[in-house]
Amino acid sequence: MRDSRETFPRRAFVAGYPIKHSRSPLIHGYWLRELGLEGEYEKVAVEPEHFGRFIEDLRQQKSAYCGGNVTIPHKEAACQLADHVDPPAEELGAANTLWLEEGKVFATNTDGIGFVSNLDAEHPGWDQAERAVVLGAGGASRAILQSLRDRGISEIHVVNRTVDRARELVDRFGAPLHAHGMEALDGLLDGAGLFVNTSSLGMDGAEAPHLAFDKMKSNALVTDIVYVPLVTPFLAQAQEVGLATVDGLGMLLHQAVPGFEKWFGQRPKVTPELRQLVLDDI
Ligand code: ATR
Repeated sequence: MRDSRETFPRRAFVAGYPIKHSRSPLIHGYWLRELGLEGEYEKVAVEPEHFGRFIEDLRQQKSAYCGGNVTIPHKEAACQLADHVDPPAEELGAANTLWLEEGKVFATNTDGIGFVSNLDAEHPGWDQAERAVVLGAGGASRAILQSLRDRGISEIHVVNRTVDRARELVDRFGAPLHAHGMEALDGLLDGAGLFVNTSSLGMDGAEAPHLAFDKMKSNALVTDIVYVPLVTPFLAQAQEVGLATVDGLGMLLHQAVPGFEKWFGQRPKVTPELRQLVLDDI
């Protein structure tokens, strides 16, 4: 009997609920075409109550998939249901990338890699920042905090409207992290080398407060994981005072690289054409 790892073309999925708005098929479809590979990557709407069955079918190679991405609301369940979870995903308690190996489901989380790879590509040397200020303590914040800590940033301040959520993340990720409420933000920016917005402030035209970016170091970097609009209110404010900025679209593109390589066997490149393709879809 053939198993799905030997089945060509290879098929991968992005499973979520809802899933209509995922841009992942656009990204992986571009790479499949560019690399001349036969393969498929498709959206699958999986309701939460059916996710366990979906993973079991993957494990038993009934679904013809060699792996895929999972997104909201399945990231935590994916971590619990996989047979092997790598240490960073285990610590996060959330996975976004799955693949099959010898009948076992393997899981990792590529959000942190996506964040760091994007900054490495767009603003080398960003990790010289001694003090980083991260706004927001939701799901998106976690992988970023973990990756900043693992990159060796020595002072990481998590600022959140609900300070208890920031405190939970400090408990989870340890010593270099400190928790604060919103009122501490401008004081913390004084002398900081990196600011990351992981909150929904400024998203889709939402209001964003004016921040004291002029107090940051002159070589500081301001980045936002929000990418609609591409130039968010925080990025615009930072540019007005002459700071370097990196937008959030690159994180989305870079986080897709490790999964593609696992499923289709070649490491794809994040190119300006891919960026434009996704931008045109926004
Ligand atoms: P995600 O998983 O995308 O991070 P989330 O868990 O809903 O989404 O988190 C959204 C983040 O934006 C949170 O940090 C949230 O703050 P709270 O934890 O206090 O809810 C933050 N956020 C959303 N609206 C905000 C607002 N008007 N002012 C300040 N922070 C806000």
